[in-house]
Amino acid sequence: MTPIIAPSVLASDFANLQLEVEMLNKSQADWLHIDIMDGRFVPNLSFGFPVMEGIKRYAQKPMDVHLMIVEPEQYIEQFRAAGADTITVHYEACTHLHRTLQQIKATGAKAGIALNPHTPVALLEDVISDADMVLLMSVNPGFGGQKFIENTYRKIEALKNLIIARNSKALIEIDGGVNQHNAPLLLEKGADVLVAGSFVFSSADPLQTIADLKSSSK
Ligand code: DX5
Ligand code: ZN
Repeated sequence: MTPIIAPSVLASDFANLQLEVEMLNKSQADWLHIDIMDGRFVPNLSFGFPVMEGIKRYAQKPMDVHLMIVEPEQYIEQFRAAGADTITVHYEACTHLHRTLQQIKATGAKAGIALNPHTPVALLEDVISDADMVLLMSVNPGFGGQKFIENTYRKIEALKNLIIARNSKALIEIDGGVNQHNAPLLLEKGADVLVAGSFVFSSADPLQTIADLKSSSK
């Protein structure tokens, strides 16, 4: 299956954001991955609504928004208004996850659940049928450019089994340390969406790197 490729704008050159977004428009990328960090859920800050709205002004592709923030339910409608097509919240940040997923869907956006590397897939048993996507963190969230955690392969298998058992249509998204070398095995295990930040934006030819990721399963 051809993967959905979602380059993470976090790794782009923020001083030339319009050019970066225009490059992604021309590329084989399917979505733009937008990382929102609050300095509380993760030990880092990224950017907020004004920057997101700036990206949206030029983006010709869906915005896949990954909220690494506490109490995400406070901001769902604002993220939707800022252009989010998919809104993913962390399992670890939501006391009332089921309610938050319904809140996201009520805005018309797709609803995703993200799991930190230590959070078992089995915890999703009673909520998987309410999710449009599950994002497996393959690094600890907060920073781009980290090393891929190998245990992710096992988690993809477990998640795929859960999705099949529950007759869910949730997509499996992998985020962190994704590159051309691990992409084929990630896809073989059942990943549908690959996020890639530094691998794309630090490469000499981001357009070609995105094309290589897109064709990695063939
Ligand atoms: C990490 C973010 C990722 C990150 C991926 O907290 O959620 O989306 O930008 O960057 P790379 O591909 O460099 O690991
Ligand atoms: Zn992310």
